[in-house]
Amino acid sequence: MNTLSPKITEFISKPKPMLIDGRWEFAVSGKTFEVTNPATAEVIAHVAEGDKEDIDKAVKAARRAFESKAWADMSPSDRGKLIWRIGDLILKYSDELAELEALDNGKPLTVARAADVALSADMFHYMAGWATKRHGLTIPISASGQYHAYTRLEPVGVVGQIIPWNFPLLMAAWKLAPALTTGCTIVLKVAEETPLSALRLGEILLEAGLPDGVVNIVTGFGETAGAALAAHPQVDKIAFTGSTEVGRLIVKASAGNLKKVSLELGGKSPNIILKDADLDVAIPGAAHAVFFNHGQCCNAGSRLYVEQAIFDEVSEGVAEIANRIKLGNGLDPQTEMGPLVSNVQFNRVCGYLDSGYQDGAKALCGGKKREGAGYFVEPTVLVNATQQMKVVQEEIFGPVVVAMPFREVDESLIEKANDSIYGLAAGVWTRDISKAHQIANRLKAGSVWINCYSVFDAALPFGGYKQSGWGREMGSAVLENYTEAKAVTINIG
Ligand code: NAI
Ligand code: MG
Repeated sequence: MNTLSPKITEFISKPKPMLIDGRWEFAVSGKTFEVTNPATAEVIAHVAEGDKEDIDKAVKAARRAFESKAWADMSPSDRGKLIWRIGDLILKYSDELAELEALDNGKPLTVARAADVALSADMFHYMAGWATKRHGLTIPISASGQYHAYTRLEPVGVVGQIIPWNFPLLMAAWKLAPALTTGCTIVLKVAEETPLSALRLGEILLEAGLPDGVVNIVTGFGETAGAALAAHPQVDKIAFTGSTEVGRLIVKASAGNLKKVSLELGGKSPNIILKDADLDVAIPGAAHAVFFNHGQCCNAGSRLYVEQAIFDEVSEGVAEIANRIKLGNGLDPQTEMGPLVSNVQFNRVCGYLDSGYQDGAKALCGGKKREGAGYFVEPTVLVNATQQMKVVQEEIFGPVVVAMPFREVDESLIEKANDSIYGLAAGVWTRDISKAHQIANRLKAGSVWINCYSVFDAALPFGGYKQSGWGREMGSAVLENYTEAKAVTINIG
């Protein structure tokens, strides 16, 4: 049942090199590292261990490509068509990509196909359109004399992109597509936990006809390859998705040449259910908000605030759903939730559960690891929690929601919802549309979902307030990350 297709078996059968300057190359050091399947803890592949020297080669290739006629002189229309073709090829190879994602990350194959792969293709298709639709302005100015003044939106240059393992292909798509549409060139450092789908994407980029060096893909560890990319003096801009802790290191590393920085970091998002909500929708919605992708979402609705009158019904309802979720190997079509991505994340999440119990929280369901091979944690609803507990304040990044009652919709509810170092997302469930808007306006979060959760679209900006990050991904907003506005003023007097 969990056997691999011949294509994927072949793909992982030999050590995987990196994409540098349009060629597949191993690390200068010759080193490789192991990639594991988190459902079994078995080694499934070996990939090149890129380090500082490899990053330097990749950055130089990206610099040459940026200045090359093949890329700089490509018309916006041709650039758009090329990016569109990448989206088409992702759809063409969606079975392979979904299989790699299930194998490497652990997520269910069905989810990988319907969510990760489909949204990745969407991202390229959406961004393809911007290649021909973004332009500067003619601006009337008041300086004395006669002038014709206009702006040009130019690519920022060579971009370093560092991505995590929770949506390996989709995070690559979120990063690559907008940078390509604006005319940048890229060095992408993928997460060491999940390098495989990005390497397959590299093949797709070449098949689509992307000129050499425009996208370079380096596999390697954060402290070595990632740090070298963040500090590289010839990188003009760095875009990072990952932990808030490493976000801070990226900011420090960027100081050398003051490269531009955008960050998409952690979250501890409040999900608020009012007593007038349609509970047939809100209860499964609250479960989906936190259990999707095994809770490994920066936007997970991990703090569930429920109006007192319906607290038991909602928390028990979410627990019942959790109890029914079928854990298993992502490659098994019956599986609804896979393992956490690595032993490190598994121990981190189990550590948070222990800390919750020590502080007095109780599990309504789940609440522990699953014995046996693989990094499985049972979906868990914690109750008896108070606002200051670690499980309420810190990002767990696992299938764990903390449910807490509130007395009424007032100032103290808004204060509690906003009582976090993060500000990435929030949910509100109610039939009272005025209240929904009032609460949405007061929440310090980059995304607010009303009577829904985790609705993502390539056209919608996504990013955080406070320590959830700098800048936005997706939509037209992300294009700001990758452009310089040049003002040209001509004396016509
Ligand atoms: P991480 O922030 O260490 O890793 C993310 C990426 O950054 C990876 O590609 C990694 O190689 C790279 N990286 C690590 N250290 C680096 C450094 N010094 N310089 C440059 N790049 C570096 O996150 P990790 O350790 O995988 O997960 C830890 C926690 O981070 C999770 O438990 C979760 O709370 C949060 N996280 C948030 C994500 C999000 O979507 N915002 C995604 C993944 C993790
Ligand atoms: Mg880390």
